[in-house]
Amino acid sequence: MEAPATALSGGSGSLVIPAHVAIIMDGNGRWAVRRGLPRAEGHRAGVEALRRTVRIAGELGVRYLTIYSFSSENWSRPRSEVLDLMALLRRFIRNDLAELHRNGIRIRVIGRRDDLDADIRALLDEAESLTRDNDGLTLVVAFNYGGRDDIARAVRRMVEEVASGTLDPGEIDGDCLSRHLDTAGVPDPDLMIRTGGEQRISNFLLWQCAYTEFVFSQVYWPDFGRDDFIAAIEEFRHRERRFGGLAAQAAK
Ligand code: FPP
Repeated sequence: MEAPATALSGGSGSLVIPAHVAIIMDGNGRWAVRRGLPRAEGHRAGVEALRRTVRIAGELGVRYLTIYSFSSENWSRPRSEVLDLMALLRRFIRNDLAELHRNGIRIRVIGRRDDLDADIRALLDEAESLTRDNDGLTLVVAFNYGGRDDIARAVRRMVEEVASGTLDPGEIDGDCLSRHLDTAGVPDPDLMIRTGGEQRISNFLLWQCAYTEFVFSQVYWPDFGRDDFIAAIEEFRHRERRFGGLAAQAAK
């Protein structure tokens, strides 16, 4: 599914804004270590960068912002770091939900809920239900999310529907699978930004990124600011998206 891009007029002309930006917020740990701080301080600074980025995305006219805040593989980190990340999510929802709601932001959460603590599940449910009817930026929080797990769970749901007679196997195609993913109803990302210098997808939105443009930033996530965001969008703007077709010139 594609969403239309918007154009923003600014001092330097108009900037085409991708409708959906996904971000792998990497580099928190290295940011902290470089300052002689515990890794937890990097994640805390990462939440500040997240607040800033949500604000900037809204101002620029991005419609969907998806953030990779805890992957299904992050459970393998030291227990203390896992607990820190869980605590940060709790604090983020408790402290920021009212303001996000006031600003018209709609929250969607993707990822497996069943192995999260009950109080976290309740907070995620509350964030989604409170903001369900908002029509501003949609903030998609990927928490306990893995792309392969998302696809596997979608397949399981389709198989269950086939078994119960509500889905005809002949109707199963790419669109059908998309509708069974956690991201159902969310357009595929136009732009994926990964901070922190690594260049890989790390099991994020595997199905949804089939035609997404990737921009890799050297900046550690806690330092990612407005100029870095705009630079990534500028780079996106110069890409020619062909979706498997031909370049505009060659097609003539
Ligand atoms: C990767 O950096 C980042 C994460 C695993 C977590 C991202 C989380 C946040 C930005 C804050 C939490 C936000 C919410 C809403 C809970 P890394 O630690 O792998 O960095 P490194 O590669 O430098 O070690």
